[in-house]
Amino acid sequence: MGLAWLASGAPPGTRLISIERDPERARIASDIFRDCDHVEVLHGDWQRIEERGPYDLLVLDGGGQAKGDGTADPARLLAAGGTIVIDDFTPTTTWPPRFNGAPDHARLHWLEHPELRAAELRLATDLSVIVGTRLPDS
Ligand SMILES: C[S@@+](CC[C@H](N)C(=O)[O-])C[C@H]1O[C@@H](n2cnc3c(N)ncnc32)[C@H](O)[C@@H]1O
Repeated sequence: MGLAWLASGAPPGTRLISIERDPERARIASDIFRDCDHVEVLHGDWQRIEERGPYDLLVLDGGGQAKGDGTADPARLLAAGGTIVIDDFTPTTTWPPRFNGAPDHARLHWLEHPELRAAELRLATDLSVIVGTRLPDS
């Protein structure tokens, strides 16, 4: 999801934070948004999302944070009722989901997370996205 697209439609009062590990990309993005007080581009690895939040919307579109070890913790990072989006999955055709012949623990992490109500949405024959909402505080 493009930061610029979000920034162009965000209502007043919305703060946007983007983490980018590529130094040149981060520098260029910061420069593009230099006059936008509500947009902040942080250079570094995805864990820097912990420095802000909790978020009403969290989009994990950078790779390792969503599908590798040490995944982001929606219970800490999302506000109650907040939404998380994780993209770039291959659509699953089985349950439980499998990827490269093995149980797809990364996908299950999100779909079965006790703090979330999550679903996988197929956007194309070869592309799906998981969208989850954090349960309200009880
Ligand atoms: C699909 S692009 C999204 C770019 C931008 N966030 C936007 O909204 O248009 C994914 C970006 O994530 C960055 N990235 C990949 N792995 C990352 C990580 N572990 N930590 C921080 N950024 C990462 C890549 O360098 C790439 O620029």
